[in-house]
Amino acid sequence: MKRVQYLHYGASEELRLDEVTPPDVGQGQIRVQVRAAAANPMDWKIRRGEMQLLSGFRFPRGLGHDFAGVVEAVGPGVERLKEGDEVFGVTSIRQAGAFAEYVVADETNVGLKPPSISFEQAAASAIVSVTAWNALVEKARLSAGQSVLITGCLGGVGRAAVQIAHMRGANIVGSCSASGREEALALGVGEVVDYRAFDIASYQHRFDVIFDTAGALSLSQCGAMLKRRGMSLHIVPTFAKLIGCLLPSRHHLVFGNPTQQSLAGVAEALERGQLVPAIGRIVPLSGAISAVVELERTGFPKGKLVIVPM
Ligand SMILES: NC(=O)c1ccc[n+]([C@@H]2O[C@H](COP(=O)([O-])OP(=O)(O)OC[C@H]3O[C@@H](n4cnc5c(N)ncnc54)[C@H](OP(=O)(O)O)[C@@H]3O)[C@@H](O)[C@H]2O)c1
Repeated sequence: MKRVQYLHYGASEELRLDEVTPPDVGQGQIRVQVRAAAANPMDWKIRRGEMQLLSGFRFPRGLGHDFAGVVEAVGPGVERLKEGDEVFGVTSIRQAGAFAEYVVADETNVGLKPPSISFEQAAASAIVSVTAWNALVEKARLSAGQSVLITGCLGGVGRAAVQIAHMRGANIVGSCSASGREEALALGVGEVVDYRAFDIASYQHRFDVIFDTAGALSLSQCGAMLKRRGMSLHIVPTFAKLIGCLLPSRHHLVFGNPTQQSLAGVAEALERGQLVPAIGRIVPLSGAISAVVELERTGFPKGKLVIVPM
């Protein structure tokens, strides 16, 4: 099978499309014929070697984590899924390798794809929607009438967060580039702020929840904008945030965790049309490396990059 992989951490020149043996399935794992995979900033952060403690030192190492496809083999101990099931999910950081014809993942990180949702839509929703779900539904328990600030509201996680917050009946303030104003309003943001002109002082004690998907705010800036019992949630860890969030406080780090509950919640929201991923570009596996490298250079201007191997 073909797989995008690399032999060392480093620059994008390390990436290659190789012919490899399909990976074996271990205890509790499934092998999926990939119909679509989606790119995330994490893919190149890991390739650059920025997350080595989590990603480990086994090479060659595949690229990509988000996928949707058809279960092709199940390992010992797999009970919920069977061959032929249409699924979507996320590999662990150590496994990776979703930009390939086949990928192996833990059964626990994979959910059933709603039949009405395409493989491309399901792959584009995986870690971004799960992370937004983990943050707003599971951690913040965001409820109707609460006010939430979502930074980066047109990014992968931000878009999903806006739609989930809208679904929960919250009042949403979202920050994005000035050019994204109309798109953010159409998505469900009540008040759109240009992040280059964001005046924190004018939002003193205004929010029940702050979800900083862009990693744009310090904990003290969040503290100034939160109501007394509010909480801020962070997905871009820095040393200061690791320390600040470790201590008992109203600031929390969130790590995307594709549990059965979060995958089922995302699947139901996709099926109901409450969650609609934005797909910017679809490329075959042969075009994956150049498309991912371009994305690393330019960002995600109009939705997710989706890779279709077959
Ligand atoms: N902890 C976890 O488990 C986890 C899970 C998923 C993602 N992440 C991380 O979360 C971050 C966001 O991921 P993503 O997939 O949403 O990335 P993305 O699709 O690239 O979106 C980032 C968004 O942030 C906006 N932005 C940039 N600077 C900003 C600022 N100062 N204020 C407000 N918005 C700003 C960008 O807008 P412009 O393009 O207009 O500048 C873009 O829309 C990445 O660092 C990713 O690695 C962490």
